[in-house]
Amino acid sequence: MKERTLLLLKPDAVQRGLIGEIVLRFERKGFKIVGLKMLKMTKELAREHYAHLVSKPFYPDLEKFVTENPIIAVAIEGKEAVEVTRTIVGPTNASKAPAGTIRGDFSNSTSRNVIHASDSKETAAKEIPRFFKPHELYDYSMNVEPFLCASDE
Ligand code: PPS
Repeated sequence: MKERTLLLLKPDAVQRGLIGEIVLRFERKGFKIVGLKMLKMTKELAREHYAHLVSKPFYPDLEKFVTENPIIAVAIEGKEAVEVTRTIVGPTNASKAPAGTIRGDFSNSTSRNVIHASDSKETAAKEIPRFFKPHELYDYSMNVEPFLCASDE
């Protein structure tokens, strides 16, 4: 059963030149990218997205971090997308993230941990429309066969 989830490549990923490296991992796993864009989060959007964390002592730093520089929002589709994505991303505390996960390979921090991924199907259903209008999400078939032209045969 096809499932969709949301990824946010946080400002540290963008500023460190990791966009391609991170997106590649999801493409190689077999997920289809159905939406992708660069944007700057407003304070309002940050407060909505991190509503459950606004009262935490680290929230002011989190808000500053995610609003000062651009992020990449990616909507992906595939089998068990939410759960598989969380495995590829690794735990929030990147110091504890296993090597081979995105956070394990690229971060050693809880606050600058490169990527956000929806934590449940219910969360994904709220987060995707938070970052993508319906016309910004695309339905298309993957073509994984190599392209051949007449002169190749
Ligand atoms: S929590 O603490 O159980 O609510 O953690 P979680 O739901 O995983 O979300 C935490 C997000 O806040 C970011 N962040 C921090 N977390 C913990 N401690 C500090 N100091 C901190 N600073 C920022 C953390 O990166 C999680 O971001 P997302 O985008 O959800 O992964």
